[in-house]
Formats: sequence, structure tokens, C-alpha cells
Amino acid sequence: MIPAAFEYAKPASLEEALRLLRDREGEAKILAGGFSLIPLLRYRLAEPGILVDIGGLDGLAYIREQNGEIRIGGRTTHRALETSALIERTSGLWADAAGGIGDPQVRNWGTIGGSIAHADPASDWPAVMLASRGSIVVRSLAGERVIPARDFFIDTFVSAIEPTEILVEVRFPVPPPRSGGAYEKLERKAGDFATAGAAVQVSLGADGTIAAAGVALAAVAQTCIAVNAAESAIVGTGRSSTSGRWPGRWRSAPSAGRWPGRLPERGETTRVSTIHVAVTVNGRSHEGEVEPRRLLVHFLREDLGLTGTHVGCDSSTCGACTVLVDGVSAKSCTMLAVAVDGRAITTIEGMEHGGKLHPLQQAFWDQHGLQCGFCTPGMIVQASWLLEQNPDPTEDEIRHGIAGNLCRCTGYVNIVKAIQQAAGELREQAAPAEPAATA
Ligand code: FES
Ligand code: FES
Repeated sequence: MIPAAFEYAKPASLEEALRLLRDREGEAKILAGGFSLIPLLRYRLAEPGILVDIGGLDGLAYIREQNGEIRIGGRTTHRALETSALIERTSGLWADAAGGIGDPQVRNWGTIGGSIAHADPASDWPAVMLASRGSIVVRSLAGERVIPARDFFIDTFVSAIEPTEILVEVRFPVPPPRSGGAYEKLERKAGDFATAGAAVQVSLGADGTIAAAGVALAAVAQTCIAVNAAESAIVGTGRSSTSGRWPGRWRSAPSAGRWPGRLPERGETTRVSTIHVAVTVNGRSHEGEVEPRRLLVHFLREDLGLTGTHVGCDSSTCGACTVLVDGVSAKSCTMLAVAVDGRAITTIEGMEHGGKLHPLQQAFWDQHGLQCGFCTPGMIVQASWLLEQNPDPTEDEIRHGIAGNLCRCTGYVNIVKAIQQAAGELREQAAPAEPAATA
């Protein structure tokens, strides 16, 4: 489905974004990663008058320790949390959840602020925030509020954020020594929202029993909920030994063309129905006019004629539409074309060089990984991102890395073999040449 028309603005500063929210109160929506909002737009469950894209506010992307808290900027991606040494070192609960949010493409672009502000009862971060007794910082032109997570989630898709406020930061207290936690969820398949999820954080006292606990559930009520009764029930229980050993956290399963068409100045709200966009696609520059509601996948296929990028599910699930945006894999059915202005896109058509197939394309051929052929372009593009991140992945890492690309026909065996073959080929190509033997 195609979203209803809306205006689009990309403010250059938080102040500008806040002014837009004040001036267009009640009809503006914030666009962060887009993975929560764009499906709502597509199903016409949300029809904002204007989208305020905060994708350019890089100052809101950070993870740091301050005053005994971990502070995370609202535009921090799930991927940044998944790969953060600070998170890994500080909180088993957060590290555990970060690797299981959506799928790799969703983690690459989705943001924690977007996820929490969305207040979906089936999403993971709200439960993690409740269990870790975090707080949410929101800002408006009137100032800043710090809202405890336990007062933040009000109803399904309803939070304590006012229409003139932006979520700028989330915080949680650094757990004391001898703490542990985990996030577990039931899901129909990798990348799904939780059918049910549980976040638990506990800290042991000097006597080895549980001194503090946070327990929260996802997808079982109208909002994610803290389970006070479970917390009270387990505090004071546990081992009475003072050996000091704590099992730590446990993880879930491993996580110059032109098309028909003035670029708005940063901060400018446009009321025209199209916006001038300039992008590089497969090394070639393109510029022209696009409607703000045009999805990247439709822009690539219909405006540029690059039909190798497929549309499978149309709902950010199957991965058939995967492309690289500035080298990072993304689902193009869940991105707006106007949001990639100034960026470089790679599609399946850009993978071969000089008439020679990319090693991944060749390996899919050799190993019969093509199978249906429909999902294959997305699989290959996603695999290219995976091998950039990890040139020598294990089978488990490959399966985890392509979890956002669904095969509904034959299975993943030949696909995994193809990626292993290509990984070997690419490593060989990257290896320094042997010095020539001397007589
Ligand atoms: Fe984009 Fe399925 S994920 S079409
Ligand atoms: Fe495309 Fe299985 S290879 S659905």
C-alpha cells in the first residue's frame, strides 16, 4: 500500500525540529529510523500532515556512561547498541535484547528512541526499560522532562510524550556488581515482534540472595508491563552461598541520470508535492523530483528502472527489497526516497564489475543457492553487507546475518553454502600476494 500524502521537513537542529512540532502541533510526526512509522503510514493507520525527519540530527546518536547511568541518545541505532562494548560490559539484559531486535536490516536503521516512543506493547525495548528501571528524557521548546519508564507507557501506542516533545535520550542505572539479566522472547520466526517477551534484571546482595529485581513482560497486555508481584516474590530468595559466582547473562539464539523534475534548504518545510533529491545509485548520479511519500523501493524500481530489487511482503519482513544505503543494508520498502537524499545506494545491479559476476553471485550460481530466484537479490545484497562486517563467519553467524531475508521455498542449506564459498573467495582476493620465489 502507498501512504497518504504528507509534507516533509528535515530540520538541521533539534531547535528547528521542536519549532516545527510546536507550529504544526497535532499533525506532525517524527521520522527516526522509520521501521515503526512507515508500516503505519503504508496501512494508513497514521496520516500525519507533516513528517519531521530527525535523521540528520547526529548529535542524538551516542552511548555513554555518566553519573552512574548509561545514557543513550534517541537516534542511536539498535546496531550501535548491539555492537557497543560499553553495553556489553555493563548490562547483560541490554546486550541480550540488542542482538534480537528485529533483523539485521532493522537493527542497522531502527533507533531506540523511535522504538520506545512508538510504545508498541509487543516491542522489546520498552520491557527492557521497565526491567532496568530506566527513564526517558523528552524535550520541547519549554524545556526538558525526565520520565521514569514505569510512568511512560500509557496504552497501546500511547506514551507520555506530548505532541510538541521529542524523545532525546534514554537512561538506565549501571547495575551494581553481581548483577545479571536476560531478555527472552517467543517469536514465530527471526525478526518478528514478540508473541511474548520477558525481561529480567537481578542484583545479588552480600549474602548471595536477590537484593533487587526488575521483571517486565512484552506482548501480554495493552502495554509492556512491569510485574511488581514477581519482583517482590524473588527479592530475598536465591542462593545463600556467598561464593560470589553469578552465572551472568545468557543469550537468545545467536543477534548522471535524471528522472522527471528545488532541494529544500535544511530546516525548510516544503508545501510543494515533490522534493528535489540527488542520490548516487550503483556509482551513477541521479537527481529529480520525488513525492515525500514515495518509498525507496518504488523509486528504484519504477523511477530508475532497477527492477532487480524485489517487493515480496511489502511489510518489512521478507528482505527481498534489501539494498545498501551508504554501505549499510536496509529494507527499501521501509525507507522514504526523500530520506536518502545525498546518499549512495547499491542494488543487485551494482554488484557485478566489468561483466564479471560478484563472488556472491557466482557462488549462488555454483551452489544452487538461487532456488526461487525472487528472494535472491535481497539475499545476495544482505550477504555482501554481512561479509563486509565479518569476512569469516561461522554457519550460525551466516544464518543470524540473513535472518531478515526469508526463504519460503527450499531452505537455507544451499544459500549458506553459497555464502561460505563467496566468503572464502573474497578472503583469498583480499590476502596479500605471495612474494615471488627467488632462484
Ligand atoms: Fe521489503 Fe519484504 S521486506 S518487500
Ligand atoms: Fe527464494 Fe527460497 S530461495 S524463497
